[in-house]
Amino acid sequence: MSTPEIRLATTGTSVITSTFADAVSQVDGIRIEAVSSRDGERAAAKAAECGANWSGTYDDVLASPLVDAVYIASPNSAHHAQALRAIAAGKHVIVEKPAVTTEAEWAELVERARQADVVLLEAMRTEYDPGMDLVRSLLADLGRLRHASLRYEKQSSRYAKVLAGERVNMFDPALAGGALNDLGVYCLHAMVMLFGVPDGLAAASVGVSSGVDGAGTVLARYPGFVVDLSYSKISSSAIASEIQGEEGTLVIDDIAAPRSVELVGIDGSRVRHDVEAPENPLVHEVRRFAELIASGGDASADQRLTGQTLRLIEEVRRVAPVV
Ligand SMILES: NC(=O)c1ccc[n+]([C@@H]2O[C@H](COP(=O)([O-])OP(=O)(O)OC[C@H]3O[C@@H](n4cnc5c(N)ncnc54)[C@H](OP(=O)(O)O)[C@@H]3O)[C@@H](O)[C@H]2O)c1
Repeated sequence: MSTPEIRLATTGTSVITSTFADAVSQVDGIRIEAVSSRDGERAAAKAAECGANWSGTYDDVLASPLVDAVYIASPNSAHHAQALRAIAAGKHVIVEKPAVTTEAEWAELVERARQADVVLLEAMRTEYDPGMDLVRSLLADLGRLRHASLRYEKQSSRYAKVLAGERVNMFDPALAGGALNDLGVYCLHAMVMLFGVPDGLAAASVGVSSGVDGAGTVLARYPGFVVDLSYSKISSSAIASEIQGEEGTLVIDDIAAPRSVELVGIDGSRVRHDVEAPENPLVHEVRRFAELIASGGDASADQRLTGQTLRLIEEVRRVAPVV
């Protein structure tokens, strides 16, 4: 007998929901059943676009026996309450990054999910990306690691509105916006995934008029090794990320989704690896979520990484307040 398809409902109707729905359409065993929104017309329009069977409010999807799981793609400040409610309704949950804003909130969700016997996963695409598997496999060629420099710096298309004094969700402190939560999280997560939790860190942030951090830098200390992270939503980087060891250096085009990874030997030799991956970078997280549900698999390692990253986010916030 074949496994029944996982029936997913979404909440939040911005572009990322469309990208996620497209990723779902590329994964076996899972489909978009319903779309929810705070607005009925937006829900209906997004449902038509995503090929969902119906639309409604978040209450409707949580109450429906036709929904097995929810995808939460609302502003960061809404994730915790929405995830708590979904778990209480017995739904599996995949929640956009950063999953929540504190390690304690995450620990609470993890415990509730365990009690309810549902899967809880952060939609952290980097973790499941084949490019990151390649980076991991090449670390052994670098010799003793000494320095890494990871960056995600891309000016937001909405920054002009911030400069014009308009309110923009992603730059709104009340909605847990800002560069650390939006892009710094990729750098921190990649760092913890590749090198583990650092012994200590220093950080500085650049505030913008809306009251959030527009950019920031973290310096993380490991035994005999240092990592610097740079993230920005108000300027863009023109250089790659790097991991340097005593035998060679990896040059990585995009730390959130590596597609070109070059190994530069200490003798100057160069070997470039191109990563073959679906154009939609969310496919791998959807596959992981579907597999965990179908197999009753253990998400605790994934959840631990999310918790460790959230603890570091809190530490960066503490040592680098936005001024
Ligand atoms: N993985 C990725 O590559 C990626 C890319 C972009 C964003 N994201 C993540 O996706 C999430 C959404 O980001 P976004 O920039 O798309 O956010 P957004 O545009 O501010 O909000 C997304 C949706 O949430 C709903 N919403 C707005 N305010 C809300 C509130 N106060 N309470 C509940 N729902 C609200 C809205 O839908 P309705 O009004 O229709 O309910 C809106 O379309 C964030 O966590 C972000 O980090 C991930």
